[in-house]
Amino acid sequence: MLSLNMNMKNNLKKVVITGGAGFIGSNLAKKLIHEGAENILIIDDLSTGKIENLDELKSESSKIEFIESRIEDLQNLNNLLSGYDFCFHLAAGVGVQYIMDNVSKALLTNIEGTHIMIEACKENNLPILITSTSEVYGVSNDEVWTENTKSLIGPPTKLRWSYAASKLIDEFLVLSEFNDGNLNPIVVRLFNIIGPNQVSDYGMVVPKFVEAALKNEDLIVHGEGSQTRSFTWVHDVIEYFYLLASKQLYGEIFNIGQTEEISINDLAKLVIKLSDSKSQIIYKSHEEVYGTKFEDPMRRTPSIEKIVKATGYEPSMEIPQMVEEIIKYKKLNS
Ligand SMILES: NC(=O)c1ccc[n+]([C@@H]2O[C@H](COP(=O)([O-])OP(=O)(O)OC[C@H]3O[C@@H](n4cnc5c(N)ncnc54)[C@H](O)[C@@H]3O)[C@@H](O)[C@H]2O)c1
Repeated sequence: MLSLNMNMKNNLKKVVITGGAGFIGSNLAKKLIHEGAENILIIDDLSTGKIENLDELKSESSKIEFIESRIEDLQNLNNLLSGYDFCFHLAAGVGVQYIMDNVSKALLTNIEGTHIMIEACKENNLPILITSTSEVYGVSNDEVWTENTKSLIGPPTKLRWSYAASKLIDEFLVLSEFNDGNLNPIVVRLFNIIGPNQVSDYGMVVPKFVEAALKNEDLIVHGEGSQTRSFTWVHDVIEYFYLLASKQLYGEIFNIGQTEEISINDLAKLVIKLSDSKSQIIYKSHEEVYGTKFEDPMRRTPSIEKIVKATGYEPSMEIPQMVEEIIKYKKLNS
C-alpha cells in the first residue's frame, strides 16, 4: 500500500503540471504559487498553449521550471519527477476543432502521453490528477449526468468521439493502477470551462463569440442553436483541483461543472448584448463546419452533488457575469 502524506497542504509544495502553459494549466500554476507552492515543474510542448500565459508569474520565476517538450519525447522523465509531491496531468489534444484536424496525434498524446506520466508517477510515488471530460458521457439521454451515468459514445466512424474514447482509456488506466495499489489518482471530468487565457482557435464557443462580437463580425452558430451547454469559470475549477488534491480524494471520479444551462442561440444573443455589438447571428450545419464525421449532444449538464459534498465548495459565477469578464479580458488582450 502507498504511504500517504496526511498533512493537507504540504502535499502541494512541489508540483508538476503537464500542459501548464495552456488555458487551465496556467491558471492553476498561479493558484498554486498563491497558495505557497515552492517549486512548480511545467512540461508543455506549446502545441496549443502559449508561454505568454505564464507572464504574470515572471516575478516568481525562481519557483518555476519550464520544459518545452512533448511528454512522449522526454527521455529522463523518471528523474525529472523525483522529489515532487503531486502531478496535475493536463497535457492533451484538446478542442473539437483541434481533434477533428489532428485525430491520430491527439489520440496518441492522450493515451501514450498519459501512460508515460502514469509510469513516471508510479516510479516516484506521486499522486496524479487527470483531466477527463464531459465528452465521455457522449450523447447520454439521462436528465443530468452523474459520475455513474452510462457512456453513450460512438460510432468510431464519427471521429469526434476519439477524444472521449481516449479520455475514457486514461480513466481506466489510472483507476486500474489504483485498484492494484500502485497509484493514487484523482479523475475529474470537466464540463465546458471558460475564463482568461482561453483561445478561440480550437473551437471554444465563448471566446469565439466574444472575439467576433468585439469586431462586429457574424457569430456563427452550429446547427439550429437550440443545443444547451453549461459553462464554468476556470477559477472555480482550479479551486476544486486544489481542494481534491489537498484532501487526497484518491481513486474517485468527480464531475466539475455548473448546472445552469444556456442554449447556444441565447448565448450568442447575450454576447452581442453585453458587448454592445452590431454583429448578426448566422447558422451553419455541423456538417458544413466539421464534415460528416461529427455529431453533437443536444444537452450536457452535470450533477455536481458529489464534488460539492466532498469539498464543501460551490461554483461562484453565473453565465452573464462570466461573459462580461471574458469581454473585459478580450478587450484588454486583443
Ligand atoms: N477547457 C475545457 O473546457 C476542458 C473540458 C474538458 C476537459 N479538458 C481537459 O483539461 C486539460 C487542459 O485543457 P485546456 O482547456 O487548458 O487546453 P489547452 O490546449 O489550453 O491546454 C493543453 C496544454 O497541453 C499542451 N500539450 C498538448 N500536447 C502535449 C504533449 N504531447 N506534451 C506536452 N504538452 C502538451 C498544450 O500545448 C497546452 O498548453 C486537457 O486535458 C483537456 O482535455 C478541458
